[in-house]
Amino acid sequence: MRTVHVRATSKEYDVLIGKDAVKELGSEAKKLCPGALKVLIVSETNVASLYLEKVESQLKEAGFETHSYVFEAGEKSKNINEIAGMWNKMAEAGFTRTDFVAGLGGGVTTDMAGFAAATFLRGIKVIQIPTSLLAMVDASVGGKTGIDIPMGKNQVGAFWQPSVVIEDVSFLKTLPDEVFTEGMGEVTKHAFIMDTELLEKLEKCAGNIREDEDVLEEIVAMNVADKASVVSEDENDNGRRQTLNFGHTVGHVIERDSGFTKPHGICVAKGMGIIIDACVREGSLKAEDAKRMKDLLKLYGLPSDDEITPEEIIAGAMNDKKKRGNTISVILVNKIGNAEIRKMTKEEFLKFLSV
Ligand SMILES: NC(=O)c1ccc[n+]([C@@H]2O[C@H](COP(=O)([O-])OP(=O)(O)OC[C@H]3O[C@@H](n4cnc5c(N)ncnc54)[C@H](O)[C@@H]3O)[C@@H](O)[C@H]2O)c1
Ligand SMILES: [Zn+2]
Repeated sequence: MRTVHVRATSKEYDVLIGKDAVKELGSEAKKLCPGALKVLIVSETNVASLYLEKVESQLKEAGFETHSYVFEAGEKSKNINEIAGMWNKMAEAGFTRTDFVAGLGGGVTTDMAGFAAATFLRGIKVIQIPTSLLAMVDASVGGKTGIDIPMGKNQVGAFWQPSVVIEDVSFLKTLPDEVFTEGMGEVTKHAFIMDTELLEKLEKCAGNIREDEDVLEEIVAMNVADKASVVSEDENDNGRRQTLNFGHTVGHVIERDSGFTKPHGICVAKGMGIIIDACVREGSLKAEDAKRMKDLLKLYGLPSDDEITPEEIIAGAMNDKKKRGNTISVILVNKIGNAEIRKMTKEEFLKFLSV
């Protein structure tokens, strides 16, 4: 078992990572939610059929009255109706401000469980139990919670830090291969922007980190530590946290243009590849570093290019919610393990992509 401590300004908490980490759930909940009598376990159809009973029994044994809210798996469910369903369930069961929510699932679930907790009775505690690679290394750590609206993804939400995050890497055994690969988009991103040790480790594992749970635990923990260090420095996304958007400015455009049929992690990998190539062309990144990064993406089954044109990227990127004023903050990697935030105007970004 490994523990990573997150020091956000609004709250400090642990992320517990390991095989059978779920066994810590009951005692952690008792310790961190004193006075709580009830818990709402938020989950979705795929994950609930595999792990809801296990989680429920841990919480029951610890003396809590358990309730569950299970929604249909998938991004389509990430909407206000499901959140209202969670609020109603808690209100009907007589939840008070000392009771809490547990989010059991991938990023869709942890984002929604966190948002329901942030808003019910003006905020109750949440414990996150992520079950996908992406949710473990990214979504469940850092306190961003929310839902989608028809005009865009993650447009409504709140910063709401969890009380503890329990990451049981054994849960990843049942994760479909393509969903695991998608999560590797964010894992490789962490390696590129800030963690050469992680990059070396991933290279050594030769494209397969699923075989050995000890290795998987170590890699997940390295990623959580990376995300935690960025979040601890810049909880509200005004400075260094923006480096986590590497590959995302372009990736989001590819994702949106596909009508969200192309998976997020795949689009991010493509976005990283496009920026890496542009950095080499403008001379800010060595060709050998670029090759090493693109080779790693390939090793883990991720693409590094796309047929999207610079003009299409600009058109899409200028509508992005990450845009501030007339400039856009583009994240570049000028050396493996080192990211740069560069503000560009529309013209500068077009030139950067086209040269
Ligand atoms: N809050 C943040 O900082 C943050 C960061 C990145 C992404 N996100 C959000 O995360 C979401 C994407 O997360 P995701 O990729 O985990 O999506 P997801 O929650 O839809 O899970 C992906 C798929 O894997 C299945 N699954 C999850 N765990 C499983 C397991 N252990 N065994 C079998 N199947 C399992 C799910 O049922 C689903 O079909 C998006 O909504 C995105 O906006 C949030
Ligand atoms: Zn992402």
